[in-house]
Amino acid sequence: METVLSGIRPTGNLHLGNYYGALVNFIKMQEENNCFFFIADWHSLTTHPDPKMLHENVRNVLSEYLAAGLDPDKATIYLQSDVKEIAELYLLLNMHAYLGELAKTVSFKEKARQNPHNVNAGLLTYPVLQAADILIHKALKVPVGKDQEQHLEMTRNYAKRFNSKYGVDFFPEPTAYNFGSELIKIPGLDGSGKMGKSEGNCIYLHDDAKTIEKKVKKALTDQGPTEPNQVKPDYIENLFTILRVVSKPEVVAYFEEKWNTCGIRYGDLKKQLAEDIIAVTTPIRERIINIRSDNECLRKVITEGAGKARESASKTIKDVREIMGFKAF
Ligand code: TRP
Repeated sequence: METVLSGIRPTGNLHLGNYYGALVNFIKMQEENNCFFFIADWHSLTTHPDPKMLHENVRNVLSEYLAAGLDPDKATIYLQSDVKEIAELYLLLNMHAYLGELAKTVSFKEKARQNPHNVNAGLLTYPVLQAADILIHKALKVPVGKDQEQHLEMTRNYAKRFNSKYGVDFFPEPTAYNFGSELIKIPGLDGSGKMGKSEGNCIYLHDDAKTIEKKVKKALTDQGPTEPNQVKPDYIENLFTILRVVSKPEVVAYFEEKWNTCGIRYGDLKKQLAEDIIAVTTPIRERIINIRSDNECLRKVITEGAGKARESASKTIKDVREIMGFKAF
């Protein structure tokens, strides 16, 4: 049983890319590991969200996590801001985080460039808060994408620095959780690389059948192949990539054959693709609607999660205080 931790900023609804890229793996992970799944609401403050939206966004992510199959009996599901020990560890780690290294973090430079009027200290120390999230439970594995690798490396640096500064072997050095060959990237429907909120090319888990049909219909296509066995252009390959994930092998084989013999009809392909996506998302969508309106259930999940998370966090913070020289009278 390894301790695995994953965090998500509550900034929008979950889409098919989140589902196949992360959630499907989380559902397996929670069977074999001591998993912590948390919603990083403090982190989301770095970009100053509308206070009215903050709670809505948290409620959405929580409902969608549960609807997709994260199980509060198997994993610890909690809200970052419910665990005050994280804030204390963040404060303490900040004393060993240096301006130079923070200022050259790729994510910081990018955010500062995008938003020059809001280069706040929270943005600068974002990786320190993330390190606190991870180290508070002494997590060993963190499932992260490429864009988060530097933050994980900084976490290892803070762990090492703490250990060597105080002459202890206290914090383990977390590494990326590797899903291995199972890692699936869902491309967008617009011919671009991956499906993403900011790209505006998403199929959301809460989309209804009509919406999905419309979105798939609008996907970029062309006149069709002109020669047998032609290499597919990216935007067509993307549709096949999604088809391989959601459809039966025979269905994929059928459309491959049609492509290779120049007999493909994109209308048929899209109809099938939409139908098979809808088959995956419909039960999830129904659960989202039910859970989202069941405040009692959400309250129970988040309260129990906070309890379990704080139990683990308070053990760590107690030791950290002692190591750093805080003593009770
Ligand atoms: N920075 C992560 C992201 O933007 C979210 C996050 C916050 C996180 N704290 C974390 C991820 C701790 C993993 C572990 O995706």
